[in-house]
Amino acid sequence: MTPPRPPLETSPGAAQPAPAPAGATPSTGYFYRFSPGQRLLHATLFTTFLGLALTGLTLRFSEARWAQAFAQVVGGFRAILFFHKSLALILTAAFLLHLAIILRRVFLKREFGLLWGPNSLVPQPKDFLDLGSHFRWFLGLGPRPRFDRFTYWEKFDYWAVFWGMAVIGISGYSMWFAPFVSRLLPGSWLNVALLLHGDEALLAAWFIFSIHFFNTHLRPGSFPMDTVIFTGRLTEREFEEKHPREYARLKAEGRLADLRAGPAQPWFVVAGKIIGFAAIAIGFVLLVLTLYSFF
Ligand code: HEM
Repeated sequence: MTPPRPPLETSPGAAQPAPAPAGATPSTGYFYRFSPGQRLLHATLFTTFLGLALTGLTLRFSEARWAQAFAQVVGGFRAILFFHKSLALILTAAFLLHLAIILRRVFLKREFGLLWGPNSLVPQPKDFLDLGSHFRWFLGLGPRPRFDRFTYWEKFDYWAVFWGMAVIGISGYSMWFAPFVSRLLPGSWLNVALLLHGDEALLAAWFIFSIHFFNTHLRPGSFPMDTVIFTGRLTEREFEEKHPREYARLKAEGRLADLRAGPAQPWFVVAGKIIGFAAIAIGFVLLVLTLYSFF
């Protein structure tokens, strides 16, 4: 699980607003949402995932003209497999590190709020109620639910990646080390692993390149690009609108000021937007090409 509120490693001097960097546009107020560690984890996840999807789907649709053209540019299908395996190692390391951090925080630091409560990514009864209210709101039958730190669809995205990593990872390493694995398991497992790996990868790529991209960047309120995962901060208005329950809770507890931030460096915001748009563009092209080749 992504840790709850950053333990203010991002806000020097806790209650003091961070000074605005030179050249930054003055703002009425920004608040930290993600710590540098969380942003680094997401950056590693999305760059390796994009690379793995690009190389993996090229292998899967190796008879398609676009896949052959791409493989030729990269240096052939052997090179594609080499990059796929190299990126898999980086993603596995990031996943294991994330898991170790969570386990340490729960078992050694006894931060049980990670497992249950308003800051947890574990689904709570409120998430199921929010899902119902949200659909009623879509139909104009009720008010918009007041979301807390993580909305139900953010939790869904998190767990989809978490279990997806387990399925894709176990099947991927089984194929990678096939001679060793076939000494432990029947050979038919390798056929199952190939099916599991390819289909789970396709599902994950289609989900991320359509629903996740829409939910995070393209929906009203975030369009055309939500930079919070790059800069780690959102404006006070965004905070109040997107996470009203968390905002009200922190305000009532007098903890809101701890999260005050200065605006991000303008070059950092621009870089975030360029990287974000590039990722969306690559994802969208892959979505169209694989849908075309699949059907
Ligand atoms: C720990 C992570 C991963 C490992 C160890 C891994 C390993 C592998 C290996 C060894 C192959 C080649 C199988 C063969 O020899 O035919 C492969 C193929 C493939 N990988 Fe991965 N992979 C990982 C993650 C991913 C991810 C995240 C995606 C996409 C989102 C992905 C998509 C694919 C696809 C589509 C294929 C082709 C499957 C087919 O031919 O049907 N992989 N992977």
